[in-house]
Amino acid sequence: MNRRNAFKKIGLASLALGTSGILLPGIANAQEEKVKKLIINRQRMSFADPDNPTDFELKHTPEITFMEADGNGFTRMKIHLGSNGIVHPTEENHWIDYLKIYKNEDLVAFTEFENGPIRGYAEYFVKLSKGDLVLVEAGCNLHGIWTNTATF
Ligand SMILES: [Fe+2]
Repeated sequence: MNRRNAFKKIGLASLALGTSGILLPGIANAQEEKVKKLIINRQRMSFADPDNPTDFELKHTPEITFMEADGNGFTRMKIHLGSNGIVHPTEENHWIDYLKIYKNEDLVAFTEFENGPIRGYAEYFVKLSKGDLVLVEAGCNLHGIWTNTATF
């Protein structure tokens, strides 16, 4: 392919992307509105008996695991939903829709999940020092907002 034909193809590709760029926001907005309607519980939840959490409570509790540091002070941190090997379900009408990560009360990450084929799980590299408090908040669209903390 000579240079002129390559530019023609790039131009056509740009035109196609531009056209879909006009159409996609409408589709994305419709999907976002549909998903928002499924998020029906934003109540803050807690364990009824902190010494004996139920499986229901554990599957909504974010499990925090500190991993290795990267040499620049950033520690890999895994967030699993839920805890003690109990996995929160991911279904079209029931899923973990967001995670928020706080370090010493400052929000450092906010991740949203769609209700598709993705399960609430995340890894972050966070700059942590000994004694820092990490709080993780997870939102279940049906069963409210659950938190867990860990001291580094
Ligand atoms: Fe749930």
